[in-house]
Amino acid sequence: MTEPASVRVRVPAKINLALRVGPVMADGYHPLATVFQAVSLFDEITARSAPAGEFTVSVSGPQAHLVPTDGSNLALRAARLLARHHEHPDTLGVALHIDKDIPVTGGMAGGSADAAGALVACAALWGVRLASDELMRLGATLGADVPFCLLGQTALGTGRGDRVTPVLARGAYHWVVALVDGELSTPAVFRTFDELHADAPQPTPPEGLLGALATGEASELGRWLQNDLTDAALALRPGLRRLLDEGRDAGARGSLLSGSGPTCLFLADGADHATRIALALSGTGLCRDVRVATGPVPGARLVS
Ligand code: C5P
Repeated sequence: MTEPASVRVRVPAKINLALRVGPVMADGYHPLATVFQAVSLFDEITARSAPAGEFTVSVSGPQAHLVPTDGSNLALRAARLLARHHEHPDTLGVALHIDKDIPVTGGMAGGSADAAGALVACAALWGVRLASDELMRLGATLGADVPFCLLGQTALGTGRGDRVTPVLARGAYHWVVALVDGELSTPAVFRTFDELHADAPQPTPPEGLLGALATGEASELGRWLQNDLTDAALALRPGLRRLLDEGRDAGARGSLLSGSGPTCLFLADGADHATRIALALSGTGLCRDVRVATGPVPGARLVS
């Protein structure tokens, strides 16, 4: 079978509906019990054949200038890693292009999404046939969120967040995504968490939230949204408190820091409700941009 000259993959952003964090481990990572949901903000990764040994990446989109295009780019690292699983790695090359819509350094796994997209795209381009659990195992070595970006939908994450199991979620949820200026460094937020919660218990799956997801009711889910990194992120960016409060005042069923922030999320009853909350938040002057998204959606998938 001949391999295609170019392939395109669409990959979603992730949010954490619950993020429970335990005490730091010897390797610097933290044990997590988290519920991920993939939402409808997408990056598109295109992979084109290139001469042997040539691995390049280019980026387009409003925040393209914030994404490195050197060897540190996570999608490029994913391509090089996958190449090692080909029979003839020395014959391979790829020109990756990332059309970026997922906020950069916003706590929505933008870099991990691109790595997941590159793994799926390069596997199709080069005809590397790996079982999905093998692809996830490879992905986990690039970043803790990569396995979930491959899986998508709604899933429980344990370990570093890299061991993922699908969970039942009825219905569709409408989210308002408030983007703010500046970034919050994920390692810095976790370090602040350690300072604030020296006695953090081992995290356990959020049973109440898992039960709420099975009802399909936004009002029920809103009661259980939880992020243990909130105190730490607010200690570093106190201004986020006002944004979270404004969303609640605008009628959101729940407000939540996204991952390690600084993006904030608000749960709405439906599409019209989400638009009304988004308009109210836009008027506060606290956000760089406000988007609406629905979840769950599938993980990294070939579109051509
Ligand atoms: O795995 P990834 O590179 O996405 O993680 C980024 C950073 O987030 C890590 O370097 C670590 O500081 C922090 N992290 C953590 N515990 C996790 C996941 C991430 O401390 N389970």
